[in-house]
Amino acid sequence: PKVVLAYSGGLDTSVILKWLSEKGFDVICFCANVGQQGEDFTAVKAKALSCGAIACHCTDLRKEFVEGYVFESVKCNALYEGRYLLGTSIARPCIAKEQIRIAREYGAMYVAHGATGKGNDQVRFEMCAQALAPEITTIAPWRDAEFIESFKGRKDLLAYCTKHGIPVDAKPKANYSIDENLFHTSYESGMLEDAAVSPDESMFKMTTDPKKASDVGDKVRIHFKAGLPVKMTTLSDNKTVTDPLELFLYANEVAGRNGCGRIDIVENRFVGIKSRGIYETPGGTLLRAAHLDLEGITMDREVKRITESLALEFSRLCYNGFWFAPEMDLIRNTMDFSQKDVEGSVELELWKGNITVLGRESPKSLYSADLASMDIEGGGEAMDYNPADSQGFIRINSVRLKMYSALRKKFDGK
Ligand code: ARG
Ligand code: SIN
Repeated sequence: PKVVLAYSGGLDTSVILKWLSEKGFDVICFCANVGQQGEDFTAVKAKALSCGAIACHCTDLRKEFVEGYVFESVKCNALYEGRYLLGTSIARPCIAKEQIRIAREYGAMYVAHGATGKGNDQVRFEMCAQALAPEITTIAPWRDAEFIESFKGRKDLLAYCTKHGIPVDAKPKANYSIDENLFHTSYESGMLEDAAVSPDESMFKMTTDPKKASDVGDKVRIHFKAGLPVKMTTLSDNKTVTDPLELFLYANEVAGRNGCGRIDIVENRFVGIKSRGIYETPGGTLLRAAHLDLEGITMDREVKRITESLALEFSRLCYNGFWFAPEMDLIRNTMDFSQKDVEGSVELELWKGNITVLGRESPKSLYSADLASMDIEGGGEAMDYNPADSQGFIRINSVRLKMYSALRKKFDGK
């Protein structure tokens, strides 16, 4: 039988590759290029083939990832538990979809991954796989009793490599797990499991230490159309970018050099376990700040209120692996509709880890300086706003409050 293995070239997935081929599988390796820095795909492919894979595909998914997933999350202001921008979560459906495509191309009835049995990733990969290809079965060696029995720790994995001539990275592996794509880098487990211990500065890949970042900072202007970033300019570099992938990478560069977008969080996994993670999401943090601000000037109050609650829902579904779910389609369609007038540009300043909005403008602005002004009576020309009406507005809105306070006084004496 054939199996398509999500392969990284690392220790775990190399052992899994060999273990699957020993079991009689024809293993097709798949290493997604979602923009992880410093990945040598030629080397990954060579290693896969030398470990017995019958083929290895390193698909460049960067454009699809930015346009179909990262920008979707920007559009929805996605955020999990108030802080996590979902950098790993949102890459999973993109990767799973390509893994299934390759499985179909080879007529493989199995896919496999190296996620543990305690995490979110197993859920996300497998929920996506089941949604897209219910006929395909997932093999998860880290949940397989026989596999776990054979590999109790790193020592067993290394011994297996020696026995089978699997090359092992010379430099010792970092004592934490890294997941990387162009949206973010995450660090968790290992020495980071002690939630009280702060991470080492040398760990970070995408962001400069805010304390060491430039004293001058950067000013950027980001343009949106229908809620999507379409142009970014900086005066400091005298640069303008419009291509989605280029724009996102440039946002990473500018926000990264100013130390923006780091978080340290204890979050709740879908499986019920709390986990501590460190994430850096420079470009995503910048685009989110700009997009949110532009909604302020272009979006109706009640539409904003409803989409805020949908953003929470979108984030939860994304985190839990429900990308290909009907409720997700509903939310994404609604969000698209809500964005049709989110157009214009926002100017922001980045400085030592901070992102400050400097101003915004929009051809579709709902903002009226005349209407808001404390210096002008009424609403200006077109608006029928009479401040005297507010007295009745306040009195009517207070009806319930008066009833409630009378009740409290009667029963609680206060
Ligand atoms: N806790 C984050 C999430 O669930 C990051 C997971 C990182 N994954 C990994 N394989 N290291 O989205
Ligand atoms: C894993 O368990 O494989 C990584 C962490 C996670 O998926 O939450």
